[in-house]
Amino acid sequence: MKTPPLYELYEQSVQSPETHINWLVDMYHQLNGKYPVHLREDFCGTFAMSCAWVKRNRKNTAIGLDLDPKPIAYGKKIHLSKLTVDQKKRIQILRKNAISITRPKADVILAGNFSFYIFKQRKVLVDYMKKCRASLKPKGFLFLEMAGGPGMIAEMRERRRIRPDDESPITYEKPFIYVWDQQSFDPITHDAKYAIHFKLGSREIKNAFTYDWRLWTLPEVRDAMTDAGFRKVVIFWETEHKGQGTGEYVPSEVGDNAFSWIAYAVGIA
Ligand SMILES: C[S@@+](CC[C@H](N)C(=O)[O-])C[C@H]1O[C@@H](n2cnc3c(N)ncnc32)[C@H](O)[C@@H]1O
Repeated sequence: MKTPPLYELYEQSVQSPETHINWLVDMYHQLNGKYPVHLREDFCGTFAMSCAWVKRNRKNTAIGLDLDPKPIAYGKKIHLSKLTVDQKKRIQILRKNAISITRPKADVILAGNFSFYIFKQRKVLVDYMKKCRASLKPKGFLFLEMAGGPGMIAEMRERRRIRPDDESPITYEKPFIYVWDQQSFDPITHDAKYAIHFKLGSREIKNAFTYDWRLWTLPEVRDAMTDAGFRKVVIFWETEHKGQGTGEYVPSEVGDNAFSWIAYAVGIA
């Protein structure tokens, strides 16, 4: 039995590009009263979001940035190849540091799945944000996906059974097991180590992906965005937790003390 590429398993386990794009577009529309057109997807990996973006509307354009050629090559083979000629013209994927000023100016810069936690020093984080601001149109969004709460720092594992969706390229007998492994957390530095393992039948793929992050807090990120020159910072917080996500995010000044949460810090240029 052939093992599916790790990116296939990753995408099926942790990504839902259409849902995330709906949220992002709704949030942008709520605050700006119009729809975003040009997306920059930072840390884009296999750039599934950028592909979903150009498919969503014939005016939409996207640029994706990632340093690693491997996920980019996978995205080209699996996602880009399925786009129409017109959609392909509206997407550009670059092997490039996200700490960059890019043109044309974007309506939205998105960093999904907590990817900016890779930056451990505040100076570097603020530099990233400044370059993002310089790459955004007036009122453009820097949209950072964040996670936190005690449930994100406890040393524990979360197991989920994943049933790949109908569009999935996975040919493996379904479903498979995804394991999110929270390996260590340092309360002084907020350095946190995580890993993703997969289990396909009796076969285990340990440490398929590993992360060495700084678990930034919302107030830290809000202050950093302000220091980077964003006019306004809005936190989109999920309406109700009770152990289950509702998928409804609203601008909030106070949040409930959820065991674990995902929220969006939006800097408005
Ligand atoms: C956690 S993956 C995120 C993939 C995808 N965006 C998602 O939401 O699931 C992080 C990606 O960031 C890339 N990366 C790390 N540092 C980077 C940097 N400074 N600039 C651009 N990409 C970077 C890695 O190569 C990796 O593909």
